[in-house]
Amino acid sequence: MKGIVFTEFLEMVESKFGLETLDNIIENGHLPSEGVYTSVGTYDFNEMVTLITNLSEETKIPVGDLIYAFGLYLFSGLANSHPEVIKNYNTPLGLLYCIEDHIHVHVKKLYPDAELPTFKILDKTDNKISMVYSSSRGLYRLAHGLIEKAFEHFGSTATITYDLLKEDGTEVKFDIVQNG
Ligand code: HEM
Repeated sequence: MKGIVFTEFLEMVESKFGLETLDNIIENGHLPSEGVYTSVGTYDFNEMVTLITNLSEETKIPVGDLIYAFGLYLFSGLANSHPEVIKNYNTPLGLLYCIEDHIHVHVKKLYPDAELPTFKILDKTDNKISMVYSSSRGLYRLAHGLIEKAFEHFGSTATITYDLLKEDGTEVKFDIVQNG
C-alpha cells in the first residue's frame, strides 16, 4: 500500500483523535516501519490493518466505520496532492465513471507499484451509476467514503447503497443516485 495512504491516515488520526491516540496506535503496533512513512514509499498492507485495528480498540469505534471516515478524509488528501488527476472532471458522476479507465490509470503512472481496486460499470444515466468494486483488500467502506466526498467536492450529494456480492467484501456492488 502506498505511503500517501499511510501519511493521510496518520494525519486523520491526529486531527480527529489527537496526538496521544496516534502515539498509542503506533507504539502498540510493533510495526516494521515504526510508524514512519514517506508518501512515495510502499508498505505492507498488514501495517494499515494493524493501525486501523489498534485505532478501533483505542476509540471503541468499529473498524468499518473508521475505514469509511478515512475514505471521506482521503479524497481531499489525494485531490490536493494530485490536482492534475481530477482537474478535467466537472461532474461527480463523470469522475466516478472514469476511475477505472483514467484516474487510476494516471495513478499507476505516478506510482507504478500501486495496488488499485477495479470498478466495473454496470449502468450509467444522467443521475445515477451502478458499479462493482473488486479488490483483494476488501476496502469497500473506503470506496464508499471516497465516493461520497467526490459529490461534496462538486457541491452535490448522493444516495449511495451497496450490496456485498462476496461476504468478505472483496466484490461489492454500488448503486449511486445523485440527489436533486
Ligand atoms: C487506492 C477508490 C479516486 C489515488 C484506492 C482504494 C480505493 C480507491 C477503494 C484502496 C485500494 C483497494 O481497495 O484495493 C477510489 C474512488 C475514487 C478514487 C472510489 C473516486 C471517488 C482517486 C483519485 C486518486 C486516487 C482522484 C489520485 C488523485 C489512489 C491511490 C491509492 C488508491 C494513490 C493507493 C494505492 C496503493 O496503496 O497501492 N482508490 N479512488 N484515487 N487510489 Fe483511488
